[in-house]
Amino acid sequence: MQLLQTCDELRRWCRSAPGDPAAALHFVPTMGALHQGHRHLIERAAAPLSPSGPLPRVLVSVFVNPLQFGPGEDFERYPRDPLADGALAAAAGAGALFSPSVGEMFPGGEAELTRVLPPPALLQVLCARSRLGHFEGVATVVARLLALVQPDRLLLGEKDWQQLVIVRRIVADLALPLRVQGCATWRESDGLAASSRNRYLSEQQRAQAARLPAALAQGRRAWQSGERDPARLEQLVRAELEQGGLAVEYVEMLEARRLRPLDSSAPPQGPRLLAAAIRCGPSRLIDHLVLMNRPPIVAIDGPAGAGKSTVTRVLARRLGLIYLDTGAMYRAVTWWVLRHGANPAVATEVAPLLAGLELSLDLEASGEQQVSVNGHDVSQAIRHPDVTAQVSQVAAHACVREALTQQQRALGARGRLVAEGRDIGTAVFPDADLKVFLTATAAERARRRAHDLEQRGFAVPPLVELEALIAERDRQDSSREVAPLLQAEDAVELITDGLAIEEVITTLVDLFRERIPEEAWPAPEGGADA
Ligand code: PAF
Repeated sequence: MQLLQTCDELRRWCRSAPGDPAAALHFVPTMGALHQGHRHLIERAAAPLSPSGPLPRVLVSVFVNPLQFGPGEDFERYPRDPLADGALAAAAGAGALFSPSVGEMFPGGEAELTRVLPPPALLQVLCARSRLGHFEGVATVVARLLALVQPDRLLLGEKDWQQLVIVRRIVADLALPLRVQGCATWRESDGLAASSRNRYLSEQQRAQAARLPAALAQGRRAWQSGERDPARLEQLVRAELEQGGLAVEYVEMLEARRLRPLDSSAPPQGPRLLAAAIRCGPSRLIDHLVLMNRPPIVAIDGPAGAGKSTVTRVLARRLGLIYLDTGAMYRAVTWWVLRHGANPAVATEVAPLLAGLELSLDLEASGEQQVSVNGHDVSQAIRHPDVTAQVSQVAAHACVREALTQQQRALGARGRLVAEGRDIGTAVFPDADLKVFLTATAAERARRRAHDLEQRGFAVPPLVELEALIAERDRQDSSREVAPLLQAEDAVELITDGLAIEEVITTLVDLFRERIPEEAWPAPEGGADA
């Protein structure tokens, strides 16, 4: 592992580091006094994002940033242990460790430095209320580090959730070309979150500090037994902390993703953050948990041929969610209609057949969705070209839509789904945690279709013809009366032109993790290898 102290050395390493030039640069900024939490973070940074992807290069920085300490805070006595830091970073897989002096980081001095000011709403909650200037200091140093390092991916611990939310916001607002990844908090066996400031604690204080995660866990238990009132949950956690002899700075419950106050008059919102800060002896300690009403739901919509099903299937495995292929359900109904010799275009012929149809999905099966109709496995039969040719007509009937939407909602009541299909984010799961409108230009979809036909040994029509057909299908899909192709207002549009499947999946995982932290919904073992 290389030790870098100056910005020049850093630049040279970043530009000409040994190894695969295509390898992504992953960056883990720290203030040193590295602990097991940092070790896990660096190990995550050093792991490839996909099974076949190249190994990333990892840079760790150690810089005790004076800008983020207020008067009377612990800047002077913040633990510094360069030798141990170097050993831990190297063992965890870092390729270089950058540890600049204050003069190197802020050559013009602190007083004249350009500052980055996070949005005011993010500075009115949680730690920002008592640590004035702290997040401005973090934002300023992180922006400067990112400008120097120019990483592809920045990894931060979820433990400092407010910091993570603020850094994500800065990266988005300044349009910085990198991804931000949060990693689950690393905890000691008694639940205490790893923190450099744990070093200040005596043995007795250390035992007392474990009351912080324990008090939050009480809050979780109350949530699980149905308590939804933020004030009551906050009060319960506060009482637990005080009973444990801890001085409470705050206990606060907010909307997790944007740290907005909870609005009791609005419909149920997404994941909530229940966070606390306490003083224990010489240390100020923070911790939080994220509470969800049900396991996550991801809804993926978009025009035909945008690659929804391929991506959805892999995404489900990677996030430990169940893949719900609603298209297969519409195919099963179409198969049933054709089997009865009914005219798929005529609603009055289709509607009566729905009563005798018992559709079931084996959601746990891996790979293709297993679909049964009245006890018979029709998974193969529904892929027949006759079904393909008629499915969009059948799916356009209001009676079919209604019946299947109800069934899909029932399947979604327990969450833990990635569902793909038309109007999935608008009509079926309007409260999905992540809605994505996956699309590609008609020209790109025509190219993919041509490639697919060629691979399967079929004749390939001219690209212009394919493109015109796709554009016409989009027009029909968007203008039809029932379940038109429509992007949900709160959906993220992802245009996949020029992106490999793996890049699309990584983007979706990142979008998911902005909403559902790892600690609240851990990735399955081996999920990254799926
Ligand atoms: O989380 C930290 O250690 C620091 O706040 C950071 C992100 C390295 C900025 O100084």
